[in-house]
Amino acid sequence: MTRNVLIAGGDALPPGSRMLAFVEGRSVVLFNIDGVIHAIDNSCPHNGASLASGRLEGHVLQCPAHGLRFDLRSGCVVGATGLCLTKLPVETIDGKCVMRTGERHEP
Ligand code: FES
Repeated sequence: MTRNVLIAGGDALPPGSRMLAFVEGRSVVLFNIDGVIHAIDNSCPHNGASLASGRLEGHVLQCPAHGLRFDLRSGCVVGATGLCLTKLPVETIDGKCVMRTGERHEP
């Protein structure tokens, strides 16, 4: 069963910003890239490092631990397949960022 959980109000995550949130015991990083919200588990699939402070260039997030680069649109390592972030379903409803819990969005 899924349900919507409010993550942030309307202006808490403007374009170009990121946010670390805790949703039902899970650490989640959200990025607003050109008005599109991307949400991922705050755990690198390589070795579990926090991704919250990773360098972001366009849609590419670089893990601060060992430098793997993930495309936030697909969730996967740039130029390779098989190693992907856990993307989480978010949407904007009435100007608020909402996450659907109880389901996963696979790349
Ligand atoms: S833990 Fe992220 S690249 Fe190794």
